[in-house]
Amino acid sequence: MSRLVVVSNRVADPRDAAPGGLAIALEEALQRQGGLWFGWGGQVTEQPNPPLSLRQWGAVTVATTHLQACDHDSYYSGFCNKVLWPVFHNRLDLAEFDPAFYEGYQRVNRQFAQQLLPLLQDDDVIWVHDYHLLHLAAELRALGCRQRIGFFLHIPFPPLVALSAVPQHQTLMQALMAFDLVGLQSRQDLAHFESYVLAQADGRSSHRHHYRAHGQQTRCEVFPIGIDAQAFAALTDTPPAQQVQAMMAQEHGQRRLVVGIDRLDYSKGLPERIHAFRDLLERHPEHRRSATLVQIGSPTREHLQAYADLRHQFESLCGAINGDFGELDWMPVRYIHQVLTRAQLAGLCRSAAVGLVTPLRDGMNLVAKEFIAAQDPADPGVLVLSRFAGAAEQLQEALLVNPYDAHCTANSMDQALQMPLAERIDRHQKLLARIQAEDVHWWCQRFLHALDQCQPALQRKP
Ligand code: G6P
Repeated sequence: MSRLVVVSNRVADPRDAAPGGLAIALEEALQRQGGLWFGWGGQVTEQPNPPLSLRQWGAVTVATTHLQACDHDSYYSGFCNKVLWPVFHNRLDLAEFDPAFYEGYQRVNRQFAQQLLPLLQDDDVIWVHDYHLLHLAAELRALGCRQRIGFFLHIPFPPLVALSAVPQHQTLMQALMAFDLVGLQSRQDLAHFESYVLAQADGRSSHRHHYRAHGQQTRCEVFPIGIDAQAFAALTDTPPAQQVQAMMAQEHGQRRLVVGIDRLDYSKGLPERIHAFRDLLERHPEHRRSATLVQIGSPTREHLQAYADLRHQFESLCGAINGDFGELDWMPVRYIHQVLTRAQLAGLCRSAAVGLVTPLRDGMNLVAKEFIAAQDPADPGVLVLSRFAGAAEQLQEALLVNPYDAHCTANSMDQALQMPLAERIDRHQKLLARIQAEDVHWWCQRFLHALDQCQPALQRKP
């Protein structure tokens, strides 16, 4: 079995007491096959040649590099978070097309390639993750790397009109075609990829899943990422989760909890969610005092202006709704700007009558799947899910909403709060079966199997 090399901007910390599902799945595959995880360790340095640190984590070597301060600004804050993130999430209005950002992006992708290459073994299989590293295969190939290289995009693949607004879209897509396999989250993402390749890059789709453009050929397929459903469900029995459930029961008594769990990111539709909750309370006064929205908005990318603006806007909407509808013994919204542990989140999901997952755009959204996994099958809560999350393609039995439409979203919240037990059980059973069957291990194995079948680029006939 080939050794697995995972490359991502952020590397999961082996000392993390509550690793995410992705870290668990990748760790399992890495430990099984033996492997290397390479990425940025989170440190910024002034040194021109950032050092590499190696440490051992069972059968896995974790190799982390530093970023130079100027590259942290241009690559991470700049091209990743002010160009690719907003454009890929349909927010061209927030994009800043500064050419220096792209130079930093190229520099860091080259730095990763140069530092990774000497660590590679001949029969390694390389799996690169996310939008930070679109150039990595091209950089590795330029250095003579011949191993198979796969790429998985965790965020949405944008429609042609949005992608072609990025001044460097051609070189980016050319670099993407240097991967042997490109994995996307949803069928819609694949349709966007295909329309770019066929219409913009004058390429063609040669045979099943294969695309040719810019003189290169890649295989591109949909691999919807899953969670470790069993492990997340098991978290609900742990002491921290039980503590949260007891606390919620004590604090909120007979009130129904509507729960949202998000990073405080503009793609998550948080202001729109407050508008919808306000609409619910205005038009359905029976839910006043009887329903409370508990919203976790965990801090993220706080040094960026767009995130500071969102926080300001969101917090003032929370203040206004609480001022307008709150009473001495009830507040409509309880907003928490903190990172909770995964066990606490599992407990919170379990306490909820309704899970609100209403991003304006999202590659997948794993909270939707975690919410389902954490429910009591005998008395499950109802998932209200945005049509614009990749998860909606798999989770059709959720109440699917257009998050821009406050009125309809409020109607779905009302429907969720009123749903009879038999219907809740029926929907939940179907959703649970899907997230259990299509879990993170299934995702990981499918991707690696497809990558295994690819002929490395340098062995292909032109
Ligand atoms: C999304 C991306 C990840 C990223 C995470 C946190 O989930 O797909 O690649 O790591 O957000 O963002 P950050 O900028 O803190 O790494």
